[in-house]
Amino acid sequence: RTLDWNLVQVEKQGFRHYMLKEIYEQPGVVRTALEAYFNPNWHAQDNPDFSPVTLSLSPRLYEDLEHIQILACGTSWHASLIGKYLLEQLAGIPTTVDYASEFRYAPKPIIGNTLTIGVTQSGETADTIAALETEKERRANLEPKLQARLLGITNRPESTIAQLVDQIINTQAGIEIGVAATKTFVAQVMSFYFLALDLAFRRKTLPLEQIEQIITGLHQIPTQIEKTLESQANYIEELAHEFTKETEDFIFIGRGINFPIALEGALKLKEISYIHAEGYPAGEMKHGPIALLDTKVPVVAIAMPGSVYDKVLSNAQEAKARDARLIGVTSAMNAQEAAATFDDVLTVPEVEELISPILAVVPLQLLAYHIAAIKGLDVDQPRNLAKSVTVE
Ligand code: G6P
Repeated sequence: RTLDWNLVQVEKQGFRHYMLKEIYEQPGVVRTALEAYFNPNWHAQDNPDFSPVTLSLSPRLYEDLEHIQILACGTSWHASLIGKYLLEQLAGIPTTVDYASEFRYAPKPIIGNTLTIGVTQSGETADTIAALETEKERRANLEPKLQARLLGITNRPESTIAQLVDQIINTQAGIEIGVAATKTFVAQVMSFYFLALDLAFRRKTLPLEQIEQIITGLHQIPTQIEKTLESQANYIEELAHEFTKETEDFIFIGRGINFPIALEGALKLKEISYIHAEGYPAGEMKHGPIALLDTKVPVVAIAMPGSVYDKVLSNAQEAKARDARLIGVTSAMNAQEAAATFDDVLTVPEVEELISPILAVVPLQLLAYHIAAIKGLDVDQPRNLAKSVTVE
């Protein structure tokens, strides 16, 4: 027993919980993914055989692609929503995202030239397996363009789902132990950047300069996550103390590419701190959640500079008018201005809106972590949850 305990301590490398260790592993995971999938010799060449991204996917998966459907659960479903945004906005491919547990009992009408992507950190989620099997079986004897093309996005190349699909993108996150997904989420989102950029390049939907700009931005991410951790960890731990006693509900709002980050921030918090939390598209707050707001319900607004910044700010001000405690996540560049609206400002380095979700999620992971840790809860193994959900 003592020996086991010592081994666990060694594996946690001085971190109090695996979740915290895995949050701090994120810069390294992003670096490894960039090394694995970016072609360092690419210098904005317009040569179809020389994509900036080296995913080595079989041409059959890409051929005449007209539609992408993504199937996932939990945090992987949130990563998929960001994926949809990127695949539609960068590569111009209509993309749907379904909960695997819904899709398996109500599969969508069959569309030709469809790439189906299963996203999963464990590679063993029963609903995701069933949804992918449904797709494989019902398309099996149809004409070629209707046949299944299955891609997995996972960190578990040996898993059941990895074996079921035609090919995988290994997100390079490695195994995650904390039940609340952190590094696997960030790595899945990175895989979607790679896929969307590869498709955008091949389909010529983006100017080469813009592709180059996004690639440059992605290469800054590891250092920017490190800076976020360095500059925010103590502040967030301090702030977390204010929500450990009386707070029963939290609302998270975001828009556009950061709407899924509102969902993910809320999920992290409820999973490990047992505080009820809802993520909402900021513009929808007036259609429901605003009725909940008062001094006891904090609102976290993801307000990253970009196309919807002003909109999120004005949605946050609506919450403030109801006396809600307002926490903003924004870039250092806007911190001063944001301080006029928010009671507390969590900052990340200056970043392009298109890349901002990977940074914006980090302070929210820390917030959820510290609230749960201060409450003395079992952060790595929250009640009723499992790392791998292999039953329906
Ligand atoms: C469980 C885990 C979550 C995960 C979800 C989907 O609920 O606790 O962290 O997001 O399953 O799992 P998957 O392995 O398919 O990503």
